Amino acid sequence: MNNIEVERNGRIIKIAIKREKKLNPLDIETIEEIGEALKDHRNIAVITGMNRAFSAGADINVFLNLDSKTGYEFAKRGHDVMNTIQERPMPVLAAIHGFALGGGFELALACDIRISHPETIFGLPEVTLGIIPGFGGTQRLKRIIGESKAFEMTSMGKKIGAQDALNLGILNEINEKYLERSMETAKLYEKMPFESLAYIKELIRNGSGNMMDREKEYFGNCFKTENQKEGARSFIEKREATFNRNVNFDLFK
Ligand code: COA
Repeated sequence: MNNIEVERNGRIIKIAIKREKKLNPLDIETIEEIGEALKDHRNIAVITGMNRAFSAGADINVFLNLDSKTGYEFAKRGHDVMNTIQERPMPVLAAIHGFALGGGFELALACDIRISHPETIFGLPEVTLGIIPGFGGTQRLKRIIGESKAFEMTSMGKKIGAQDALNLGILNEINEKYLERSMETAKLYEKMPFESLAYIKELIRNGSGNMMDREKEYFGNCFKTENQKEGARSFIEKREATFNRNVNFDLFK
């Protein structure tokens, strides 16, 4: 991997973007390296940026050489990785500082949990470059903050600070120690029953079609698992549950 650094600790992987430019502009190679690092769906992941930023967006240098066909291809390859983040069963957390702009913001929006340093700047400034967000940002931002605010931010290329992002529901938490908090949160997830996590993620993040029916089906499926029995037993025996994390992924789909 040339553009990211990956550290593994049990079922947790930390992916740190480290482009040679200090604001971590994203080219396709970097995005696809992130996708590759997330391939093992059993891992809980924390994505962060080294140096001065999470990421200041798609690498604007690349745009000089794109035409409509290669531009479409660029967006498609970005979309594929963002969809992987959203659709993989285990949580992905974004530990954000500095700047999360353009594609960097879209990467954070694809994650399940966003924890930020208080001084981070967020935004989709693509309109100011004569383009639009191309990694799913229009749709994900609209789902999170609603049509009106998403339109305002995107159509004006408006940048906002962490407190506004928290108020709008974009962030889960602001913390000076954003990376430590993200790793702690990942460790909490590591102790949880993975089947439940995966079902919850699918129902909340990938809710198209009749998710009410899917919820009933998945609720029933939980009772096929050893983790359900351990969860109920541990409550009755007044002790902490020890969940088995070898999930049978055939239970999903
Ligand atoms: N693509 C390519 N390079 C980028 C970049 C991007 N998206 N964002 C920043 N850089 C580069 C700058 O060109 C500069 O390179 P240099 O040191 O070789 O001159 C370096 O990163 C530092 O950026 P700089 O602008 O000097 O830092 P700053 O603190 O003054 O400003 C930003 C920070 C984020 C406000 C500013 O860099 C910016 O507006 N970047 C573009 C953000 C954007 O439009 N993203 C969406 C792209 S679709």
